[in-house]
Amino acid sequence: MADLRMLEREVEAFFRPLFPGEDKILVFGDGKSDQPPLMLIGEAPGEQETIKRRPFVGKAGKNLDEFLQLMGMQREEIFVSNVVKIRPTAVGPTGRIRNRPPSKEEIALFRPYLMKEIDLVQPRALVTLGNVPLQALMGKVTVGDMHGKWHTACNGLPLFALYHPAAIIYRRELKEVYEQDVCSLRDSLTIQTQK
Ligand code: URA
Repeated sequence: MADLRMLEREVEAFFRPLFPGEDKILVFGDGKSDQPPLMLIGEAPGEQETIKRRPFVGKAGKNLDEFLQLMGMQREEIFVSNVVKIRPTAVGPTGRIRNRPPSKEEIALFRPYLMKEIDLVQPRALVTLGNVPLQALMGKVTVGDMHGKWHTACNGLPLFALYHPAAIIYRRELKEVYEQDVCSLRDSLTIQTQK
């Protein structure tokens, strides 16, 4: 835990000067930080996450609750984080600030810290939500090809790929696929713990 706090200070010290004059809030991972069975990795925090300074709250938190319910797990049992620790924003046509997907540059800047975070937390397995964390950990692959199965991440850890639950909002046909994938994940973990 102390090591994670040190990593967070290191990330703050690196990124703070990159956004001079902007009050960019960094949102770090949370949950069971000592060898959890799973580390769930999303893209980047949104507005609610920066307000609460916690990943996957608000609408994304509801998605996480659904995932946990299907898995039969509590949030406190796993570690939850994102590749990019700042909220990527753009100004919409009406002048409103909105979320946007993280850029290649943002992903590249934050990736080394994600790898350190994983090293410190030592999860037994990684679960990626969507292409951003999947590609950060496995290179040029796509979630369309990799979802619903176990793979080996670049650091040697078992990795299970899921669609990002937000993708389901735009592609309703993925809802069933996503739920089946989560059930496969749950069943494969149950089999492993029974061995
Ligand atoms: N909120 C997060 O913390 N991460 C995501 O990927 C989406 C919403």
